[in-house]
Amino acid sequence: MERLIPKIILDTDPGGDDIFALLWLLSLVKQGVAKLVAVTTAEGNVSARQTFAAASKILKLGGLDEIEIGRAVAVNHATTNAAHIHGSDGMGNLSQTLPEGDRSFELANDSDQVLIDALTTQPGEITILAIAPFTNLAAAETRSPGILQRAKEIVLMGGAFGCAGNVTAHAEFNVAYHPEAAQVVLNSRSDIVMVPLDVTRSLIFTEAMAQTIRQANPDSAIAQFIDALCSFMISTALTYRETQGDRGFLIHDAATVGYLFYPETFLWRRATVQIETQGLWTRGQTLIDNRHGAKAEANAWIATQVDAPNFFTSLIEDFKRL
Ligand code: BDR
Ligand code: CA
Repeated sequence: MERLIPKIILDTDPGGDDIFALLWLLSLVKQGVAKLVAVTTAEGNVSARQTFAAASKILKLGGLDEIEIGRAVAVNHATTNAAHIHGSDGMGNLSQTLPEGDRSFELANDSDQVLIDALTTQPGEITILAIAPFTNLAAAETRSPGILQRAKEIVLMGGAFGCAGNVTAHAEFNVAYHPEAAQVVLNSRSDIVMVPLDVTRSLIFTEAMAQTIRQANPDSAIAQFIDALCSFMISTALTYRETQGDRGFLIHDAATVGYLFYPETFLWRRATVQIETQGLWTRGQTLIDNRHGAKAEANAWIATQVDAPNFFTSLIEDFKRL
């Protein structure tokens, strides 16, 4: 039987955890079980130029420099980035240690155009893993209504349902950065897959895991970079108490890759998700309509649990093959 190889677009704002998601995908591409169609960069953790530069450097490091990278659609309202968590370059201040990517930000296509082109020419074939504020996806849908319906599947890291947010008391970063965009995406189809903070808070990547990956290939530049990025991410996670003092960092975005390739590690519920775009204290909050009958109009699948040990076993084995 012919095995179907998922075709993926990664919408990302590197970001330390974004880089782990991208490297995991690169390993799966090298193993011949995934095809990375494009990387669409977004504004979020750091600026548009920085997320573009970071994606360029990681693709070069991973030896997949031919993959298209889109540049972020601008967000037209005041925002606060997460450079205090990810470094001013979005790569743990390690960008100087990697060779320059050979890409021109000025000449790159806009990320929404890259999405529109790919979904138009390959309808029903592409899975979008969206691990950044949802500006690019919303821009594509606004410019070309119905285009997101042409994706095979859309998997988001975002939202906080039963736990506190990570940028405000109620909101998670990817939704909080641009709530209107999140709302457009949630309204675009009835089967959006969401991995929220409630679940990613149990995905703590540790120094010991980085060591295991490094020991498998001690001379590899990728393994050395992973180790250094892990140390940086742990230092900021400890400063901002993201892991309640555990020596590790939350690898949120990699959860989307874990779901796609190791779906048995997650449990799900069907839900009707709404985004608060107005509230003074609650802007960016994700809400589930739990009324009886609401499931009839459900728009999403929400991850409720992850089997963290099995998730990390799969991740580490794949990282050893980078
Ligand atoms: C999300 O926010 C960003 O800082 C991370 O990269 C992740 O996508 C977690 O809330
Ligand atoms: Ca991200």
